[in-house]
Amino acid sequence: MFGLSRREFLLGSAGTAAAFAAGGLVAGSAQAANHALTLSSLDHGIVPDTVTRNMMSFTPDGVPPVLRLKQGAECAIDVTNALDEASTVHWHGLRIPNHMDGVPYLTQNPIEGGQTLRYAFTPPDAGTFWYHPHCNTLEQIARGMTGVLVVEEAEDPGFDRDLPLNIRDFRLGGDGQFIDFYKPRNAARGGTLGTVSTVNWKVEPDYELEAGSLVRLRLAVTDLTRVGTYAIRGAEAVVVALDSMPLPQPVPARDIQLAPGQRADVALRVPDGEDSVAELVLMKSSGPKVLARFRPRGATAGRDLRELKPLPANPVPLPDLANADVLEFVFGWSPGGDAPRASICGSLGYTFWSINRTPWLGDVPGPLDPLATMKLGKSYILRLRNETPNDHPIHLHGVSFRLLRSNKREVPPLVTDTALLQREETMDVALVADNPGDWAFHCHVIEHQKTGLAGFLRIEG
Ligand code: C2O
Ligand code: CU
Ligand code: CU
Repeated sequence: MFGLSRREFLLGSAGTAAAFAAGGLVAGSAQAANHALTLSSLDHGIVPDTVTRNMMSFTPDGVPPVLRLKQGAECAIDVTNALDEASTVHWHGLRIPNHMDGVPYLTQNPIEGGQTLRYAFTPPDAGTFWYHPHCNTLEQIARGMTGVLVVEEAEDPGFDRDLPLNIRDFRLGGDGQFIDFYKPRNAARGGTLGTVSTVNWKVEPDYELEAGSLVRLRLAVTDLTRVGTYAIRGAEAVVVALDSMPLPQPVPARDIQLAPGQRADVALRVPDGEDSVAELVLMKSSGPKVLARFRPRGATAGRDLRELKPLPANPVPLPDLANADVLEFVFGWSPGGDAPRASICGSLGYTFWSINRTPWLGDVPGPLDPLATMKLGKSYILRLRNETPNDHPIHLHGVSFRLLRSNKREVPPLVTDTALLQREETMDVALVADNPGDWAFHCHVIEHQKTGLAGFLRIEG
């Protein structure tokens, strides 16, 4: 089904052959797939005593799957689309070749129902990532299609257990059935929140963990909309990585602010004693809401958080700030009047938002103009200006960036794929344009993305 586009072919023949050789686009490639996903519809119970019809997942069995890859090891993932609509899979946060990035028309043709596409790449960074469709994104994610992607460090960091927590809401009525996935008036503001909070598709799940052991909790917020503050209560716990990137110093696992798409790796020291219970909570204005519980079991393993070695840094290049060009981006309202284009990847029928006064009009075949073009290997400062009264988690594919400064607050010196811009905040971030291609650049509140707050940046060699 999916051949190389002319642009990819030209890029490939122009000297990025090595990058393409690592990919799996060649039909009939002899390389064995080590993973397989099947985009499926299913009925599954989320709210007790109900069965939610027409959910979607990457497996047909009602468990959001966790994909485990190894840093620096080539992998192949065969994606079969068993839905009766088109889709693509995007590997959020992975710095991999552009043609594996899963963005319809920008990097590949949509995978039609009944077709299989092999994605193949070598993850350069270790950490907690996730994957999701990038076609009809609002509805497919709303129905359930998200998965945590773990890239394991080459060297075992010494935890007793590794526990991915896929954190998200669903919009369900009392009968457990989906209600409208969003409301237009909310899409033009902060976004539409879900009605039922879940972890790994369960409401307030309990995890039994070995008493006194060290557990790596991999928090991944795969929600469409919610910018939330999370905390671990009732146990010693520290954040060791944010958005896949190890922190120079662990910080207590309190006030962890995560926007849609963001992740936190938390080292949890399970309490001793079977009567204690630790909790993952979401801090709401009404008070903390328990999302999951961790219950110690058995005699204590007697471990100590100080036994953990720091996680090794990922090989993200350091930008050359003295010689960086500044590129400006303004995130604002849509100038108005533009009707979105029909797309097999879905349209909400509205444009409310824009980047540099240009609303993204939908996922349609190109040619499309980039918001900016960067030169391969050069350093850039992106000046991100939010002129709206809403929060926007601005996400860039393919390249990680460093937070430099903000006009509103101290920003930690994090390396990330998402900058959470608060209302009327301007933030500078810096990157080395080291990955050639057309990289999606959008707000990760999916209603904003789907009503104009999207575009792409080009890196050309
Ligand atoms: Cu989770 Cu375009 O990204
Ligand atoms: Cu992404
Ligand atoms: Cu937004």
